[in-house]
Formats: sequence, structure tokens, C-alpha cells
Amino acid sequence: MRLDKYLADLGIGTRKEIKKLIQAGLVSVDEEIITKPDFKVTESSYVTLEGEPLVYQQYQYFLLNKPAGFICTKDGSPNVLELVPNYYKDLNSVGRLDKETEGLLIITNDGQLTHQLISPKYHVDKKYYFECDEPLPAEAELILSQPIEFSDFTSLPGKLERLTDTSGYLTIHEGKFHQVRRMIGYLGSTVTYLKRTEYSFLNIEDLSVGEYRELTEEEIEKLKGGSDNE
Ligand code: URA
Repeated sequence: MRLDKYLADLGIGTRKEIKKLIQAGLVSVDEEIITKPDFKVTESSYVTLEGEPLVYQQYQYFLLNKPAGFICTKDGSPNVLELVPNYYKDLNSVGRLDKETEGLLIITNDGQLTHQLISPKYHVDKKYYFECDEPLPAEAELILSQPIEFSDFTSLPGKLERLTDTSGYLTIHEGKFHQVRRMIGYLGSTVTYLKRTEYSFLNIEDLSVGEYRELTEEEIEKLKGGSDNE
């Protein structure tokens, strides 16, 4: 196929924009700068844009270790989409983390998978590390293991793993607004630090804060395959 079609299929831009990128010498194929939009490539050609290798696939899937201070919506800055390659169109985070929350975030332009993962019927397990200001009560594990009625929803049973009296892991199955902060708040304490460490079978042990990697084919298939995957 033509190089400009290859780039268009990846959602890099309009044909006109792509032509400009190619003619400006920003695209290489198999280690050579190519300036002709009709240059022939195949799906297995090694193509880079401004030195960044491109992977020919219909959708992109990134796993990001989100830093605090970044928002998950596109209409403000700094936002998480600034932390992954920005030439793919329609990227969005799967669900949201609060601005001050760190940790695991999936970013993709596969709307169907996003829809599936955030659908309440999938109940993907999400594990958070938290620190809070007041000691957790003795019965905290029991309280959080039962549904809690909030004004706008009732949480499914969560799992608290206490590390100290003011820190621990909380695993929940939904992703309601401020859910972890509200569940810890229900115990009479305020979250002072929050980080998502796991999402279903995924973790971010190999990523430092602000770093991302692409999900592997196997991970993508596993995510598509169902809710628990454990
Ligand atoms: N729960 C919260 O309170 N905040 C988040 O960012 C995620 C879960």
C-alpha cells in the first residue's frame, strides 16, 4: 500500500496533513527517510514518525502510569493524552482517575473495548494503594466487605488489605466518581494519597511514574475476553 494510506489508516491525520509530514522528511521506512507519499510499504515495514516507531494496527492500546496533576479529559491541560504518542486519533482513557490520583490507566481508541470495560456488568477488579489521615477503625475490613449505600449508588463489596492503620490496598469492582475516597471517607478518614496499582490482571510494576508502554496482543485479547481474567 502507499505510505500515505498506511499513515492514514493509523489515524495520523488527513491525507493533506500526512503529505506535509512526509514531504517534511519526518517519516522513515526501514531506516530511510522517505519524502514520497506514494512510496510502497507493507504492514511489516518498519515505519517511524519523528523517530517514533509506528505499529500498523487498527487501534492503539497504551498502559500508562499516570502522575498526579494530570486530568483524564481532553478539554484541559495537563491531560494524560499528552503522555502518550499524540498522533493517533480518538484516544481516550478507559474510565477516569482523579487529577491527584496516580497509577494504572489504559488509553485506547478502541471504543468497543472501552465500552465493554467500563460497563457495570463487567465488574473489572481495580486495586488501589491508599494513605489516609485518621487511623482506620478495627472493623474497617468488615465494613468495606459489605455493600455501602451512598446517596447516588450502593457499592459492591470491596476488599481492604490493611498495611498500617493509615494505609492499605482497597480492591473495588466499579468505578464511580471518587469511589475509593468516598469509601475511606465512610470510615471517618480522608485519603491523602491514592494510586491504582492493578486493573484486572494488569499492573504497572514495570513502569515508572509518567511512563507508558503498549499493551501486548495477548493482554488485549485477555481484556476483550471477559471480566475477571484472573
Ligand atoms: N477512586 C477515587 O476516589 N479516585 C480515583 O481516582 C479512582 C478511584
